[in-house]
Formats: sequence, structure tokens, C-alpha cells
Amino acid sequence: MKLFQIVRCALLVACAATQSVSAQDVKGNPAAGEKKAAQCIGCHGIQGYRASFPEIYRVPMIFGQSEKYIVSALGGYKRGERKHPTMRGVVDNLSDQDIADLAMYYASTKTPSHAPSASGNPVDSQAAMALVQKGGCVACHGENFSKPVDPAYPKIAGQYADYLAVALKSYKVEGGTVVGRANPIMGGMVKQFSNDELRLIANYVASLPGDLETIPQKRFR
Ligand code: HEC
Ligand code: HEC
Repeated sequence: MKLFQIVRCALLVACAATQSVSAQDVKGNPAAGEKKAAQCIGCHGIQGYRASFPEIYRVPMIFGQSEKYIVSALGGYKRGERKHPTMRGVVDNLSDQDIADLAMYYASTKTPSHAPSASGNPVDSQAAMALVQKGGCVACHGENFSKPVDPAYPKIAGQYADYLAVALKSYKVEGGTVVGRANPIMGGMVKQFSNDELRLIANYVASLPGDLETIPQKRFR
């Protein structure tokens, strides 16, 4: 049985998540995280700062995100499941302790649920809600997309629409070297939708109130 489990584990992408348990067991210190965040604020601490790869979109808001999800996402870049080259370069230099500190810092620095900070695109809410219902997204991301059923799942309400669209499309990419996210759950989810439908969903989710925000860099100077 043990051997079977090991073999099965080696075959499953999902196994990587189990292996990161040690990283999740390290306890974070938000004050240490704030210092370490100096290397992040050039992108995550500037409101509306844009990334240009693989297309132009706003860098995700991570203040107010769940601690466990931040650990999980950073682990994804470290293990190469998430291909984004810049973030892979960033996490290369982070230890498990650094990741735990940063996750605790970003998760604990937040304003209670608020209207989206970025004015989004006009949304055909009814059409978007039908797609969201078809996908059964609320079963994991929560009724309002801001209280996921598992703390290792992301809050997405109020996140930048252009980032959400890029993230959703990236789960479609298989075998990419610099683009894509190998995630068995979301990979299965997004393949039922066209890119236009994913953009519609992204615009809708971005229009909802949530916890996420970007806290401008100058407050830390
Ligand atoms: C040069 C710009 C840049 C720097 C510096 C940077 N990031 Fe990022 N970060 C990005 C971009 C762009 C993405 C989206 C990548 C993708 O599409 O997967 C991202 C994604 C993330 C995500 C995933 C967000 C989500 O919702 O899934 C986390 C968490 C994150 N960064 C944390 C950090 C931390 C912590 C640091 C500092 C140690 C940092 N980043 C430094 C640009 C940057
Ligand atoms: C079975 C649970 C489950 C369902 C159903 C689900 N998701 Fe997810 N979602 C996840 C998990 C887990 C992740 C994190 C994956 C990773 O680590 O990259 C995620 C990630 C995402 C992200 C990326 C967030 C970020 O910050 O980068 C978006 C956007 C998203 N989901 C939207 C949706 C939408 C829209 C639907 C419905 C069409 C949906 N999800 C259905 C579990 C789920």
C-alpha cells in the first residue's frame, strides 16, 4: 500500500501540493515579512502597476489575500507549476521561512471588505452569472468569491479584471515553458470556456466587493 501510494504520488501533479506541507508548517512573522517585502513593492506596492508578459495586465493585488493561498501560490512558482518567469526568479531567492513571513504580512495587512479599488469594464452580469453557475465556481471560491471553502484557495472578488483573465487563460496552457499554470483543478474548469467567456467572467468577478487591495509603496518609506 505504501509503495502504491508513493508511485501514485509521483504520478500526480497534485502530489507537489502535499510535499509543500513542510513549507506551510513554518510559522510566519508579519514584522519580518514587512522588511522582506521591500523586494516586492516595486510591483505589488504600486497601485495599477502593469506587467507586460505574456500580455499587458495589472500585477495582482495580494494585500488581504489568504495566507495559505499565498504560500501555495509562491510554492507553485518555486516548483515550476506556475511558469511566470519573473515570479519564478523572485521565489528562487526565498526560503520557506521568507515565504511564511511574507504570506503572514500580506494576509494580515488589510482593510475590511470594500468596493473594488479599480474601476472595471462594463459587465453583462446576467450572462457572466450564467457562466459562473455553469462552472460551479462558488463551490470552492465561496458565494461572494471572497470566502473560499479552503484557505489555500484564492480570494478573487475585486481582483483586477485583466489579471484574472490572464490567470484564467494560463490554466488552459499545457506544457508551456514560460507561460501557463499546471493546476489540475482549474485546468479542468477553464477548458469548458472560450477566452471571450473567461474575459466576461473576469470582468464580473472584478466588479464584486472583496478584501484584496494594493497598499501604495510610499506608506512603507
Ligand atoms: C517585477 C515585478 C514583480 C515583483 C518584484 C514581484 N512580483 Fe509577485 N507577481 C508579479 C506578476 C506579474 C504576477 C502574476 C504572475 C502570473 O501570471 O502568474 C505575480 C504574482 C504573485 C503572486 C500570485 C498572486 C495570485 O493571486 O495568484 C504572489 C503571491 C506574489 N506575486 C507575491 C510576490 C512577493 C511576496 C514578492 C516579493 C518577494 C513578489 N511577488 C515580487 C510581479 C512581481
Ligand atoms: C474544485 C474547486 C474549484 C472550483 C470549482 C473553481 N476553482 Fe478557481 N481555483 C481553485 C484553486 C485551488 C485555485 C488555485 C490554483 C493555483 O494554485 O494556481 C484556483 C484559482 C483560480 C483563479 C486564479 C486566482 C489568482 O489569484 O491567480 C481564478 C481567477 C479562479 N480560480 C476562478 C475560478 C472560476 C471563474 C471558477 C468557475 C468557472 C473556478 N475558479 C472554479 C479552485 C476551484
